[in-house]
Amino acid sequence: MRRFLIAAALCALAAAAAGNGDPFAFLPDGGRGIFSRAFPDRPAQQAALGTTRSEAEWTAALTGAALTPREVETLAAYLARVAPLVTGDDPVAGLPPDGRDMALAQCQSCHSLFSGYLMHRRDRQGWLSIFASPFHAAIPLDDRQRAIFADYSAINMPLRPEDVPPEFRF
Ligand code: HEC
Repeated sequence: MRRFLIAAALCALAAAAAGNGDPFAFLPDGGRGIFSRAFPDRPAQQAALGTTRSEAEWTAALTGAALTPREVETLAAYLARVAPLVTGDDPVAGLPPDGRDMALAQCQSCHSLFSGYLMHRRDRQGWLSIFASPFHAAIPLDDRQRAIFADYSAINMPLRPEDVPPEFRF
């Protein structure tokens, strides 16, 4: 029954996605999404991705951009892991998946995003530790991807139930 409900909900979501906008707009942007707002033009994007900085150095460099403190934290953690990065003509298109991308792609097939992800408060180590469970071992993320996922999740989860559309609260 539960599986049926999840399958039915996923179908409804696919239909919603095909229609009006992103049904997951409630899920905060990850590094990829924030990057193009923080660096709107290509020269700035290429310069940023050519830079080697620690997370603390990125936090200092990004503070003052038109971002919330949480977005600064999210983007700083992401850039510290992905830059320096050689990109083609479109740097944004060449960015690796961020934590939000991974949660959407990897965390909904066996249980709901709401019960398995959105409502959990964990620190980075706590998020990394889910990959030690036997039932999570097959999730196809390498160590760097797991670290990017854990950073994003520790900074942005949990959401408040009221910030999640009712059709996702299962
Ligand atoms: C291959 C199936 C599968 C996938 C994919 C999966 N899970 Fe799970 N998950 C399970 C099972 C099975 C359980 C234990 C039973 C339950 O709670 O439904 C579980 C439980 C959990 C729990 C509670 C127990 C614990 O380990 O602390 C969390 C948190 C969780 N999953 C997070 C995630 C996240 C985050 C992702 C994506 C990175 C994910 N899961 C992807 C199968 C999966």
